[in-house]
Amino acid sequence: MRPSVLFVCLGNICRSPLAEGAFRHEARAIGLEVVADSAGTGGWHAGEPPDPRAIAAARRQGVDISGQRARQVKAEDFRRFDLVLALDHDNLRNLRALMPKGAAARLDLLLDYAPGLERQAVADPYYGDDAGFDLTWQQVSLAARDLARRLRHGEI
Ligand code: 4NP
Repeated sequence: MRPSVLFVCLGNICRSPLAEGAFRHEARAIGLEVVADSAGTGGWHAGEPPDPRAIAAARRQGVDISGQRARQVKAEDFRRFDLVLALDHDNLRNLRALMPKGAAARLDLLLDYAPGLERQAVADPYYGDDAGFDLTWQQVSLAARDLARRLRHGEI
C-alpha cells in the first residue's frame, strides 16, 4: 500500500502546494511510491493554480507544481489519507475541529517532521516577497525529506 499524505494550509495556493511538490520530489528521489495531495481550510481559491511566486520558487529547485489546483479540505479526506499535515497551528486547530469521529487519519503539524523545526509553523509567505517563498520551500522540503525517509523505513 502506498502511503498517502495530505498537506493543508489556509488558501492552498502558497505553502501546501510547495509541501506537496517537495514531498513528491523527495519520495521520488528515494524510490518511494506515494499518494500526495494538498488542500486549504478555506475555499476562496478553489480551482486556481498555485500562486505564481510559489510556482517560481519550486521551479528554482527544479520542481514543477504548476499543474496543481486548489481545493478545500473535506471530511472524506480524513478517511482517504493516512496522514493529514497542517502547515501552521491555526490550520491544525481547524483540522481537529473538522475531523469526523472515528476517522483513522493521523493529524500532525508538518514541521514536527523537520529535524530542528519541531512545533514550529511555516509562516505564510503570501504578503511577503520571493525570499519568503524560498524560505517556505526550505522548511517544507526539510520536513518532506524526513517524512519520506521515515515512511520508507516503516517508522510511520
Ligand atoms: P497559503 O497562503 O495558506 O499558504 O496558501 C494564503 C493564500 C491566500 C490567502 C491566505 C493564505 N488568502 O486569504 O487569500
